[in-house]
Amino acid sequence: MPLRKPKILVVDDEADALYSFRRIFERSDYVIIEAQTGRDAIEKARSESPDVILLDLRMPGMDGLAALREIRALDPRTPVILVTAYASTQSTIEAMKAGAFDYVIKPFDVENIRSVVQAAVKVSLDMRQVVSYEPLLSKEKHEEEIVGSSEPMQEVYKLIGRLANSDLPVLITGESGTGKELVARAVYHHSRRKHRPFLAVNCAAIPENLLEGELFGYHKGAFTGATAAKPGKFEVCDGGTIFLDEIAEMPASTQGKLLRVLETGEIEKLGSTRATKVDVRVLAATNKNLTDLIEAGKFRQDLYYRLRVVEIPLPPLRERLSDIPTLVRYFLDRHAPEFGHKRVTVDEAAMAVLMRHNYPGNVRELENLLKNSLLRLKGNVIRAEDLDLGRPAAQPADTMAADQTLRLADDSIFDALFDEIARRQPLPEGYDAFDVVERRLIHRALQYWKGNQSKAAKFLGITRNTLRKRVKKYGLRIEPNVVEEQD
Ligand SMILES: Nc1ncnc2c1ncn2[C@@H]1O[C@H](COP(=O)(O)OP(=O)(O)OP(=O)(O)O)[C@@H](O)[C@H]1O
Ligand SMILES: [Mg+2]
Repeated sequence: MPLRKPKILVVDDEADALYSFRRIFERSDYVIIEAQTGRDAIEKARSESPDVILLDLRMPGMDGLAALREIRALDPRTPVILVTAYASTQSTIEAMKAGAFDYVIKPFDVENIRSVVQAAVKVSLDMRQVVSYEPLLSKEKHEEEIVGSSEPMQEVYKLIGRLANSDLPVLITGESGTGKELVARAVYHHSRRKHRPFLAVNCAAIPENLLEGELFGYHKGAFTGATAAKPGKFEVCDGGTIFLDEIAEMPASTQGKLLRVLETGEIEKLGSTRATKVDVRVLAATNKNLTDLIEAGKFRQDLYYRLRVVEIPLPPLRERLSDIPTLVRYFLDRHAPEFGHKRVTVDEAAMAVLMRHNYPGNVRELENLLKNSLLRLKGNVIRAEDLDLGRPAAQPADTMAADQTLRLADDSIFDALFDEIARRQPLPEGYDAFDVVERRLIHRALQYWKGNQSKAAKFLGITRNTLRKRVKKYGLRIEPNVVEEQD
């Protein structure tokens, strides 16, 4: 979670366009800076180090494409989002090839532009917020740390250190919430590719039939819905590092293509038979047991061997209880300000409870538990009764329920929503957090299926009628290819 406001540089020669951007983002947690020419954009990209750049392609004088090339040369990590009237024009295609992160189409679709910007900010912060792993050495508050000096964690640090000068693929394994994503970013930040791009792709979050296109790109017309050519993550990330999270969820055909990249450095776009060379280092993570999946015929053994040249296994929190006090201190310092607290401590009894718990959701569970206490805390000391462990740790939980707590504790989308709801405390009259979830989900599904209600309803497992009612309730307006919010 960013501790400073991300900075967005918006470049457009038209004052009207700049005005709409400002309106779309004015109430959000971003700092907006503006430029009206390509030259000015390059200057500001240099002097202001924005986290994300929104760049109009058509401008008098130096056009967006030329500006993009210079900005990329300055720092290839800054995600640049193109603003264009048509996705399929030659200049947009050229710009995507030149390494643009994504594009948005004019006139703006508010929700879409927000989500593209949000994704780009995440990518940018992943690269800029350095994850350090020497416990407690870095006092820099804005940077992230892998905390814990227990013996199993020391082994993890040693491995990250040993990898610093290598381009080998790395497989990060461990239960949910043990810090795999954090470690992947630390590997990147301590590698010789740290000045090159880093992209995380969550294989479980992208529908199976689209993952391949996302990763390797596609040509126009390669499948229904491919209205314009798009480069894949591997191309966008050329020279850098790609992090394939939840790799166990990758469908078999995509696994085959990934194996090919690892073996030959070549990708093949959908709708093409020509191979393109890319130079990308692959990091992967999973909380599944891949050998079980291989036995079940769900994961390719050859790919497994390629990926696990180096494996970093992360120990579950219950096997490194000695890290708990340091983690507690770290999370309290990190999150107290968000909830309007200064320095918060835990008393002895609370610490004893924390040390006794067995953490099926690992470090994430501990972090959420503390955030939850901070949210409700009066004063500045957390006592045992302020800790909501869900169910007593000592009681044998029935598996089904335990499974469900785990799933909830797991899901980072819930973390984001939880934070959002926490920020709005006390909630305005009539605010229902469940509506927020539902609305987002429906919007996302409609956007994904390009406004096709039947497909979106089927995808969500609800009837078209239910969908229609919700669409009305939340004031979502649907047109083919466009989903807009109605103000
Ligand atoms: N050792 C650690 N020090 C500090 N923070 C940690 C540590 N381990 C995990 N975290 C924090 O816990 C949360 C969960 O970590 P992360 O997302 O890396 O888990 P994960 O192993 O990828 O889980 P999943 O398998 O569910 O995706 C994050 O907020 C992360 O910053
Ligand atoms: Mg993860």
